[in-house]
Amino acid sequence: MNRVFVTRILPEPAMARLRAADLALDVWPEPGPPPYDELLRRVAGVHGLLTLLTDRIDARLLDAAGPGLRVVSQMAVGVDNIDLAACTARGIPVGHTPGVLSDAVADLTIGLMIATARRFFEANADMRAGRWTTWEPMGWTGPDLHGSTVGIVGLGRIGQAVARRLQGFNVRLLYHNRRLHPQAEELGATYVSLDDLLAASDFVTLHCPYTPDTHHLIDARALALMKPTAILINTARGGVVDQDALLEALRSGKIRAAGLDVFTPEPLPPDHPLLALPNVVALPHVGSASIATRIRMAEMAVENLLAGLAGRPLPHCANPDVYARA
Ligand code: DGY
Repeated sequence: MNRVFVTRILPEPAMARLRAADLALDVWPEPGPPPYDELLRRVAGVHGLLTLLTDRIDARLLDAAGPGLRVVSQMAVGVDNIDLAACTARGIPVGHTPGVLSDAVADLTIGLMIATARRFFEANADMRAGRWTTWEPMGWTGPDLHGSTVGIVGLGRIGQAVARRLQGFNVRLLYHNRRLHPQAEELGATYVSLDDLLAASDFVTLHCPYTPDTHHLIDARALALMKPTAILINTARGGVVDQDALLEALRSGKIRAAGLDVFTPEPLPPDHPLLALPNVVALPHVGSASIATRIRMAEMAVENLLAGLAGRPLPHCANPDVYARA
């Protein structure tokens, strides 16, 4: 019987599918992730691993699992917590959940753009604290999203879903991507260099994967290129932005504001100076957190897991090179 370790309790439809499969199932019962040492112990001898983005899956852990490990399946599209090269080298396919969460993340991105520009949380905090004393001509004003220039960094599935939504806002759309995107014309998006995008955009929104190439893509130099009135939105990964440089840029007015759903580290400590800034709208990595999306992500993760255990190609594989080795 295949042994499987699942690093968190999943939504019930996914748990039901796991229970119905003929598996020796070990499910981490705590609300938080298993500590790394515990993970090392629990994976010994497993054939399948179902992970979340909070679990570090590196070569040491794969070795601790042993040669029987046939699949790692993650309930997320991003797999930067997993050493893909180490998995590929051992012939282990890695499953992930692309596509299913693009609309939810794009919805949240638009929400963050408006909430940040129009100062929702600042105004709400003032109201709750009794500082709403009158209607002021310029009270709690901010820039418009409609009619603005928006720069999308990374025109993959999520970037495209953001672009589609922005068509309703009459914006000028710029994008930067590793390569020209065939869908861009239809989306009304114009390709520009990253520097030109940063210099021209009123909103810069990040939708690239986090890799060694995109580590601190938005650093002090990049922030200095942005307009002092610009707003940065990050729903990708915290590491794409040099957070210390961002803090300085927000404090000194080099940019107007930031809407952030991802941080370094996660969870961000509540006393982190970013959270004290009125021009930051911060959310605890909830881009995909619609009920239907999270249920579907978990189901996809189970589908990938079961395919890997059965020796079938994963429906959604993050390291397809693994099959070229066979
Ligand atoms: C992902 O899937 O990578 C998101 O960050 C969480 O939904």
